[in-house]
Amino acid sequence: MTTRRIVDLLRNGQPDETVTIQGWVRTKREQKEFCFVEINDGSSMVGLQAILNPTLPDYAEVVKKLSTGASVTIAGVLAASPGKGQRIELKAETVTVYGEADPETYPLQKKRHSFEFLREIAHLRSRTNTIGAVFRVRNACANAVHQFFQERGFLWVHTPIISANDCEGAGELFTVTTLDLKNVPKTKEQEIDYSQDFFGRRAFLTVSGQLEAEIMAMAFTNVYTFGPTFRAENSNTSRHLAEFWMIEPEMAFCDLDGNMDLAEAFLKHIFKSVLEQCPEDMEFFNQRIDDSVLATADNIINSSFERITYTKAIELLEKADRKFEYPVSWGLDLQSEHERYLAEELFKKPLIVTDYPAAIKAFYMRLNDDGKTVRAMDILVPKIGEIVGGSQREERLDALERRIQTMGVPQEDLWWYLDLRRFGTVPHAGFGLGFERVIQFMTGMTNIRDVIPFPRAPLSADFRASSVRAGFANDLDFRQSSLG
Ligand code: 4AD
Ligand code: MG
Repeated sequence: MTTRRIVDLLRNGQPDETVTIQGWVRTKREQKEFCFVEINDGSSMVGLQAILNPTLPDYAEVVKKLSTGASVTIAGVLAASPGKGQRIELKAETVTVYGEADPETYPLQKKRHSFEFLREIAHLRSRTNTIGAVFRVRNACANAVHQFFQERGFLWVHTPIISANDCEGAGELFTVTTLDLKNVPKTKEQEIDYSQDFFGRRAFLTVSGQLEAEIMAMAFTNVYTFGPTFRAENSNTSRHLAEFWMIEPEMAFCDLDGNMDLAEAFLKHIFKSVLEQCPEDMEFFNQRIDDSVLATADNIINSSFERITYTKAIELLEKADRKFEYPVSWGLDLQSEHERYLAEELFKKPLIVTDYPAAIKAFYMRLNDDGKTVRAMDILVPKIGEIVGGSQREERLDALERRIQTMGVPQEDLWWYLDLRRFGTVPHAGFGLGFERVIQFMTGMTNIRDVIPFPRAPLSADFRASSVRAGFANDLDFRQSSLG
C-alpha cells in the first residue's frame, strides 16, 4: 500500500478510502473511549487526525508511545469527521511507532515557543507550525523563481562559489585557504604569501555571481543565477546573514528601464505564485505573524511600483518632518531608516530609486552623462528596506577603465571583464534579489534568521543560531521576542 501525503488526503480524501499515512505526532488527546492523535508529515500546516480505538492490539502501550514528536505509520480507513475544523479523519487499523520522543526531554511540547528559543534548536524547529510554513513558502517561491525565468527563455547558469574577485568592492570577504594557520608563509614584505596557498593566490567565497553572469549573458543573452552568496558583514541585524541566497538575472541588449520592468514583473509573479501554491500558509502568516501580509501581497501584485531618482529621494528626505539617526545629504548612502521611511510611510508601496552618486556605488555601474551619477537601481519595500540592488552596466571600454581607476579597483584582476567590452560589447543590465529578504517580506517574519533553515551569522555556524556577542547589544533593529 502506498503512503499518501496528508495534504492530498485533506484536500481530496474520501470516506471509506483505505489509506496509509506516515509522519510525526503533533498532539494527542486521550479520552475514555478513544485516543485522538494529529499526525503531521510536513506537507501542510494542518495534520490529519487519527482515531485509535481501544480494540487495537497493544492499545495502552501504543498510546503511551504516541507522545508529541513520535514517528508513526498509521493505516486505516477515512471517515467523515464529526469534529469541528476538519472534513475527514482516519480510523486507525494498524499503528507502527518508529521512534518515541520522551515528553520529559523533547523540547517542542508547548503550543507556542518564542522564535529565540526555536533558534537555539535549529535541528528541530522545522517541525513547528510557523517555521514549517516558512519553509513551504520558501520552496514555493524558489519554484516560482525558476518558472518566471524559464518561461521567458532565461538560462539558469551556475556561477562559482569560490572566486578570486571581490565583485562589490565591499571588502566583506571570507577567505578560503588551506594554509597552515599555525605557520603562515610570509613574503619578503612580511605579508601572507598566498602564492603558496591552494589556488596559488588569495581566494574568497563569492559575494555575488554577477560578473560571471555578465560573461554568460554575452553568450546566451538572458541568464540568471540562483545560489548561495557570502558576506562577512559583522552586522547582527534582522536583515543580514553571512550566507544568503541571491537571484541575479543579467540581460544583454537591456537598459535600466528594461531592468526595472523585469524586476517589477518578477516580484509580482513570485508573490502571485506563492499565494496560489500556499494559500493556507499565507493565511496563517496573516493571522498569526503580521496582519498586513495579505494586503502587502495584494499591493505588490496590483499596484505599479513608484520610480524616483536618488536626487529626488534626498529632496523628500530633507523635507520630511522627522529626525533621522543618520544624516541625509546628497552624496551619502541611504540608510535603512531612510529607505523604510520612503517605502513605508511616504509611498506606502515598493519604490525604485535610481541614479545614485557614482562614488557610493560599485565600479561596474554605467556612468550617466552628468558625470556624477550612475544607472543604479535599488528596490525598497515597506518593513524591510532594500530587497533588490541592480544597475545598467558600463559597457564602454574607456569609460569602464576610467571608473576602475577612480575607484582604485586593481585593473589587472579584471582583464577578462574588460575583454567583454573589447569583443562584442552591448548595453546590458541586471539585478540581485535577496531571497531571504523577499521571504521575510512575504511572510511578515521579522528576523531573517527564521526564514533560512540553518542561518549563518556572526557566531552562528551550528544549530544554535541566536548567539549574541557582547558589543552587538546596541544593534537597534535586532528585534527580539515574537512568538511562533
Ligand atoms: O545590493 P547587492 O549588494 O547587489 C549585488 O550583489 C549585485 N551584484 C546584484 C546585481 O546587480 N546582480 O545585493 C543584492 C541584494 C540586496 O538588495 C539584498 O536584498 C540582498 O542581496 N543582500 C543580503 N541579504 C541578506 N544578508 C545580507 N548580508 C545581504 N546583503 C545583500
Ligand atoms: Mg545594495
